[in-house]
Amino acid sequence: MKAFVAGATGQTGRRIVQELVARKIPVRALVRDIPKARNILPAEVELVQGDVLDRQNLTAALGDATVVLCATGAKPSFDPTGPYKIDYEGTKNLVDAAKAKGIEHFVLVSSLAVSKFFHPLNLFWLILFWKKQAEEYLQKSGLTYTIVRPGGLRNEDNSNPIVMQSADTLFEGSIPRQKVAQVCVEALFEPAARNKIVEIIAKPDATAKSFAQLFASVA
Ligand SMILES: NC(=O)c1ccc[n+]([C@@H]2O[C@H](COP(=O)([O-])OP(=O)(O)OC[C@H]3O[C@@H](n4cnc5c(N)ncnc54)[C@H](OP(=O)(O)O)[C@@H]3O)[C@@H](O)[C@H]2O)c1
Repeated sequence: MKAFVAGATGQTGRRIVQELVARKIPVRALVRDIPKARNILPAEVELVQGDVLDRQNLTAALGDATVVLCATGAKPSFDPTGPYKIDYEGTKNLVDAAKAKGIEHFVLVSSLAVSKFFHPLNLFWLILFWKKQAEEYLQKSGLTYTIVRPGGLRNEDNSNPIVMQSADTLFEGSIPRQKVAQVCVEALFEPAARNKIVEIIAKPDATAKSFAQLFASVA
């Protein structure tokens, strides 16, 4: 297995890279700025300069990767096209490139509440709406996928057990980015994670379960 990580310099993406490296999985990281990435990512990670909006170069950027993990996301800005471009077009471009390369598994970091059009987060240029469109494009692509929808992301890890549920059943809660990264990487190894949407938060009063149990509990 060789993993291609898009959004690798991001707060969640860098933790996905760390989890992959800890599991000795070779990583090829798509980054927009190589010097910045060198400061953030472990030295053994292969860096490829690129942009998910640069459709033409994505197939070559995938190189010899066999699985893809995507943790890109538009940053809040005054550009009303940001979420449409990054969270929809960019992911769509990556799905197309993954399909062209015969990628074995595509893990997408999405968000809780993507199906709620009237959610306040959609005030940020319809970000949830565009993430949902990207999810649907991936689901229809024929690629093996896992769509991970986390609650509010936290930089500090904690020991709260993970709660994992099926699509459109969790509407609030938060989760450390490290746990999101673990779920994304475990999805590559758990047969029960294939072709599923999983919603995740972490809660102190939840019952601790193995990743196999968590994925198996989701329809
Ligand atoms: N914040 C929350 O509470 C929350 C909750 C649920 C879901 N989410 C979603 O979870 C995901 C990860 O969030 P995060 O806060 O960890 O992300 P983040 O730190 O904002 O990182 C986003 C990454 O996307 C990359 N990126 C942006 N545009 C790109 C482009 N055109 N081509 C290639 N890469 C591009 C950025 O690259 P640069 O480093 O070069 O800028 C960065 O690496 C996002 O999709 C976010 O919407 C967030």
